[in-house]
Amino acid sequence: MLTRELASAPNNLEAFWMPFTPNRHFKAHPRLIASAKGMHYTATDGRSILDATAGLWCVNAGHAHPRIVAAIQHQAAELDFAPAFQFAHPKAFELAARLATLFPGDLDHAFFTNSGSESVDTALKIALAYQRAIGQGTRTRLIGRERGYHGVGFGGISVGGMVKNRMWFGSLLTGVDHLPHTLDLEHNAFSRGQPAWGAHLADELERIVALHDASNIAAVIVEPVAGSIGVYPPPKGYLERLRAITRKHGILLIFDEVITAYGRLGAASAAEYFDVQPDIVATAKGLTSGTVPMGAVMVSKTIYDAMMDAGGSEKTIELFHGYTYSAHPLACAAALATLEVYKEDGLFERAAALAPYWEEALHGLAGEPNVIDIRNIGLMGAVELAPRPGRPGERAYDAMVLAFEKGLMLRITGDTIALSPPLIVEREHIDQIVELLAGVLREVG
Ligand SMILES: Cc1ncc(COP(=O)(O)O)c(C=O)c1O
Repeated sequence: MLTRELASAPNNLEAFWMPFTPNRHFKAHPRLIASAKGMHYTATDGRSILDATAGLWCVNAGHAHPRIVAAIQHQAAELDFAPAFQFAHPKAFELAARLATLFPGDLDHAFFTNSGSESVDTALKIALAYQRAIGQGTRTRLIGRERGYHGVGFGGISVGGMVKNRMWFGSLLTGVDHLPHTLDLEHNAFSRGQPAWGAHLADELERIVALHDASNIAAVIVEPVAGSIGVYPPPKGYLERLRAITRKHGILLIFDEVITAYGRLGAASAAEYFDVQPDIVATAKGLTSGTVPMGAVMVSKTIYDAMMDAGGSEKTIELFHGYTYSAHPLACAAALATLEVYKEDGLFERAAALAPYWEEALHGLAGEPNVIDIRNIGLMGAVELAPRPGRPGERAYDAMVLAFEKGLMLRITGDTIALSPPLIVEREHIDQIVELLAGVLREVG
């Protein structure tokens, strides 16, 4: 137990076990943030930090947007909590209806969660339940993709494909296979937008089907643009092929759009951007612009109707799933205000209009020290560095630490620097991001 004196010391960093952070190094060299507005954070030492990562791929509307802040404040005073099991409040329905118009095709139903991880596990569970509901109960196998990130629940890490996120945690879900990832620096390094090479990798699904038979496969889940691994835009034609193969075999296609939904690509969703229609879409992050934790799983009418039909008598619960905080009033108010801001301020269109400038600026870093690849799509980007021999990840880590000292917040994954500014970003901010990053790369060596 910490002594009372130590525990109450304002600068005691010991008790908080930080997520996805080297705790020992951080606590010796903390980077503490006090406040945020628009494109900038302010560190506790008063320095202004340019946010090149929209927090954690989520603050799409920029920090402390007055209309979103006001909506949350008002909601907290009016209705702090209402259960969503057996009861509900009107804003939950209003938000679901609004989302149904935002997502393409018949993605007409929203199941609310509190995070991307919960959205992924919810999507997987709905896929399994649906197959069973339509008499296809042998379809239990789930297919993910190498290097995929689907959050940290047991479902998400099982279909996910990042080794460190899996190797510590036992045998995970059984009955999971993985498609190959789509990055191959020999063939697609320094692609601008979608690489020309790699659509054939979707055909690997046929190999998995041949191995297990389609009658045992429930769903395929992929990020349309792999984000957390360091921005892998899908090869041209890849998602279309995946859709064709899944459809042919009665396999559901789930898009994990926790990063790509709500404007990141310059459209409401990647499904719309790539014009590929999935059966289920998992979202979170940008739904509330990061202000209140919330996720939404968009589900096709076909799936929803089948689940209702299979539900038995009218007084029977159709899906035994949900969270205490599903459709939390504060989250619903934040999401409704956020969607309004996206629309009124034209932020999706703004992201689309800025994407070519973003691409040009990022690829300007091609000659900087140790840069082995640059990738971009929409307002997402990645700069991949050669690892230091025997010390993978260290070069990008040092770059992130140095960038913060110079007033820039970056996100890193392995030796890749990932970038995703708020959609309110101006051209001058993009210039600043690139200039600061170039300086960091030269200094970090
Ligand atoms: C594609 C994807 N899925 C799921 C998640 C998990 O979201 P959360 O951290 O909100 O649980 C993330 C988070 O980055 C993500 O990028």
